[in-house]
Amino acid sequence: ADINLQEIHDLMISIAKKAGEMITSAHPTTEGAGSKKNSVDLVTETDQAVEKFVSTSLQEKYPTFEFMGEETYKPGDFLTPAPTFIVDPIDGTTNFVHTYPYVSISLGFSLNLIPTIGIVYNPFTSTLYSAIKGHGAFLNLTTRLPLRAPTPLESLSSCLVAIEWGSDRSGNDFAVKSRTFSKLAATKEAGGGMVHGLRSFGSAALNLCAVASGGIDVYWEAGCWAWDVCAGWVILKETGGLMVDANPGNWEPRIDERRYMAVRAGEGQREVVEEFWGLVEGAFE
Ligand code: IPD
Repeated sequence: ADINLQEIHDLMISIAKKAGEMITSAHPTTEGAGSKKNSVDLVTETDQAVEKFVSTSLQEKYPTFEFMGEETYKPGDFLTPAPTFIVDPIDGTTNFVHTYPYVSISLGFSLNLIPTIGIVYNPFTSTLYSAIKGHGAFLNLTTRLPLRAPTPLESLSSCLVAIEWGSDRSGNDFAVKSRTFSKLAATKEAGGGMVHGLRSFGSAALNLCAVASGGIDVYWEAGCWAWDVCAGWVILKETGGLMVDANPGNWEPRIDERRYMAVRAGEGQREVVEEFWGLVEGAFE
């Protein structure tokens, strides 16, 4: 059967708005929900309630489509080429718990494992990012992204770079992050990238939208999941941004590979990717 992407997109937006009201009216607490793998991997009752609302609303209208959500994911679940909703009810749960308003609901839709519709909504700032593959990306449905005509990316050293520690704070991947972060910040004399600045906002979906908007030049993270990136991925690509692997060498990451680097639109994108990869100390597992 034909799939009407516009209709799905419109439904996803109305669901995101309603979910947004649930989020802004909630009192963030981890009581009754707590943390998942360790003391910094937080989940609240609101994450769970929002996912329930979103999955019920989507499945009512599209009962044959697959659904993958952060709160109901089980190890061993995998994405298939079937039409799939990929949902993070609250991306930026740590911010939500701390009442820092950089929080979003991230609703993605994939077809043949390709991110195809993306809705990222921050209910605290009423900021809505949306895109359908092949039809451009928009802020609040009216302003086309990126916000300004992209200037050339001269070199990594003139970039503003978003990074995240994530919730993995030990082992190889933590060591790769720690070394790479200091390498990015260090002076050229010390063999570093001397980037303009490093930022850690705490929401993968909003980080991708910041790259799509053009305010952030590069975003690099390993450890996040398909539901953190699916929606933002569509929005980024529709602006001419690049999505590659956080590990050096792979220009075509899979949506569920958990290692990503996003680079904004602009001449010199690929050179910046190569420069960045040259500074990565080690590789993620
Ligand atoms: C997390 C946020 C965070 C990123 C983590 C994600 P959550 O999502 O996007 O910025 O560093 O990798 O898991 O847990 O708040 O939905």
